Amino acid sequence: MARKIIIDTDPGQDDAVAILLALASPELEVLGLTAVAGNVPLALTHVNARKICELAGRPQVPVFAGCDAPLKRTLVTAEHVHGRTGLDGPDLPAPKMPLAEGHAVDFLIETLRQEPANSVTLCALGPLTNIATALQRAPDVAPRIQEIVLMGGAYFEVGNITPTAEFNIYVDPEAAEIVLKSGAPIVMMPLDVTHQALTTRARIEAFRALGTPVGRAVADLTDFFERFDMEKYGSDGAPLHDPCVIAYLLQPQLFSGRTINVEIETSSPLTLGMTVADWWRVTDRAANATFIGKIDADGFYRLLTARLATL
Ligand code: RIB
Ligand code: CA
Repeated sequence: MARKIIIDTDPGQDDAVAILLALASPELEVLGLTAVAGNVPLALTHVNARKICELAGRPQVPVFAGCDAPLKRTLVTAEHVHGRTGLDGPDLPAPKMPLAEGHAVDFLIETLRQEPANSVTLCALGPLTNIATALQRAPDVAPRIQEIVLMGGAYFEVGNITPTAEFNIYVDPEAAEIVLKSGAPIVMMPLDVTHQALTTRARIEAFRALGTPVGRAVADLTDFFERFDMEKYGSDGAPLHDPCVIAYLLQPQLFSGRTINVEIETSSPLTLGMTVADWWRVTDRAANATFIGKIDADGFYRLLTARLATL
């Protein structure tokens, strides 16, 4: 039986590749996408999510609009990374599929209440505002969540939007704190691991060599996405963050990490949004997340490219 997932997302080129990977994988049943403000405003993320569903030939996947701002703070976006549209690179047509009726938070709550307990996994690819809002409004759903696999945080790799914070956590640290304290089983995919999964030239050309609209679009998306990180880090490509979440569901053996305590800095202006990961277990704080530290990058790209070829 396919694993039921909801993808909470702020597309974003890397979100787009993650969504394509999920839609290309029969092991997963994508119940819906919930768009959140993050890389670009919500008005763009819900359009981008629908563009990607149509690119995958899956216009029947419901896309819901969610929260347009963090719980307590002013939205910080990342057009400098993702471009004005949030999906710069390929020229994808405006979506024909309509936005699903209703708010994303209601969809999260209703789905978790209607589906059998512990049968739905939440894949969080952006700021955690939608999921935290659902947990605040319906605390009864927390124990019904099978697992939350989220891209966010950093420890040994430190921050990408400030010296100490990763973007998804930084945008809404209060939401991240609510999620990490929810008691739901959590797997964190931090920069420590996504920075090992770089879109090298050879890997991008392998996407293009698929010779399909999806292959060409993913090559154009990653071509655009990598320019910022290569300039900043001088690296041989960009970290392909969000698809690591989906790959973990498909082939967890590609990853390794530790189950430890992770807390969120929500007050210091200097380190706001920092994920304080007790990697060496030097505190007596209870473990609340599996914090991933390693990836088999070649295995990840083999999986990703093979699945994209099926779309
Ligand atoms: O820090 C990387 C994360 O922030 C990724 O999810 C990217 O899409 C942005 O949302
Ligand atoms: Ca994202």
